[in-house]
Amino acid sequence: MRILIVGGGGREHALAWKLAQSRSCEAIIAAPGNAGTAELGRNIPIHDSDLDAICDAAESNRIDLVVVGPEAPLAAGLVDALDARGILAFGPSQAAAQIESSKWFAKSVMQSAAVPHARGELFDSAQAAHKWLEILGPDDLPVLKADGLAAGKGVIVPDHIDDAHAAVDQMFAGAFGSAGERVVIEDRLSGMEASAMAVVSGTDILPLPLSCDYKRIMDRDQGPNTGGMGVYAPPGFVGDSDDLFATIHQPVADQMSAEGCEFRGLLYAGLMIDDTTGDNALNVLEFNARFGDPETQAVIPLIDGDLLPVLEASARGHALPRDAISHSGRASVSVAVVSGGYPGPYETGRPIHGLDAVDDSVDIFHAGAAIDDDGRTVTAGGRVLAVTAVADTLAEARGIAYDNVRRITFDGAFYRTDIALREVPR
Ligand code: AMP
Ligand code: GLY
Repeated sequence: MRILIVGGGGREHALAWKLAQSRSCEAIIAAPGNAGTAELGRNIPIHDSDLDAICDAAESNRIDLVVVGPEAPLAAGLVDALDARGILAFGPSQAAAQIESSKWFAKSVMQSAAVPHARGELFDSAQAAHKWLEILGPDDLPVLKADGLAAGKGVIVPDHIDDAHAAVDQMFAGAFGSAGERVVIEDRLSGMEASAMAVVSGTDILPLPLSCDYKRIMDRDQGPNTGGMGVYAPPGFVGDSDDLFATIHQPVADQMSAEGCEFRGLLYAGLMIDDTTGDNALNVLEFNARFGDPETQAVIPLIDGDLLPVLEASARGHALPRDAISHSGRASVSVAVVSGGYPGPYETGRPIHGLDAVDDSVDIFHAGAAIDDDGRTVTAGGRVLAVTAVADTLAEARGIAYDNVRRITFDGAFYRTDIALREVPR
């Protein structure tokens, strides 16, 4: 099969890397791709927002399967546009992608499917939202979410009720553009977060290993949120993972099918797991309609077998070939190396050294890395690359990952030093 991967981050490099190992893969093309996907195939300079250009490229390159990485083209209807031209694509329709692109849609599905989640209300005016905040008790801090897609920035977790009121004003004043025209205010939950991804084809689900990502820029979860500073998999604090997928993904897939809004693609649940109650109470914080980034960079290397027939069956709406893949039972740690200054302003074009000094067993997934005119690999974004190590235990994986991270250098390089530390005995 000839495969077109849409997107240009570490997630897309990890997917391209896995699919390139498939017996049925003839060619990998990425749009726009990055330095990593360029090594596996060919990049074409098309942005993931240019749906017509992607459809044209899929036709002219005789693509058999398009795999869509990011959420924005899914929410804009890329899979529907490809389908209209008879091109097979992995990812949900625009309607089904609402599970990510509308927080309220996701809540309604969870409500109907009796999936545990934070209770919330939808507001379409600042006045009504302020009124709601006023009746909350002094200790009831809420969480505010722009209903629409806001590039991962549309969630505000205020430390004081005054900040909640200020957030309402900001959101309705357009701080998140049209995503904030409707605002969801929900109960604040506490516990440990984990990410649970499953490939879905209608009512058939195929779970992937669980993982935990680290969103803040600095150790001990200090500083601003980022696109993700590292991941480990699998977490040790989650109970039975079969139960988890049966409690969350299966009812959501069933409900969406029953509503005539069948989900095909990757269903990602962001979970809060309350470890204080003793029964590992699970709640969904959000759904994504695509592979997580950076979770994919840690999860994909834990999957044995051929992922391509699984994605193809999902794209066709067929039963998923359960025997095509298995979980290796090993552990992985993936550390993001970022440009100094990120998530604020940073410089690019810095040559990256030491990539060939990395152990053969370690995977480097490129995100903001490009090949410059002199053929050098240089920084081209905030999150530059992810260093992923797989081993029998998290402790070993963590040791190998950091040993290799230290061999990669560029001006201003920065990384967190505590990825997976909480699960590793000192
Ligand atoms: P989301 O994009 O919905 O996953 O939200 C981003 C982050 O905000 C999550 O990873 C949580 O850390 C936090 N968050 C979202 N919803 C809640 C909630 N109801 N209670 C506590 N924290 C939340
Ligand atoms: N790592 C969170 C996400 O992919 O949205």
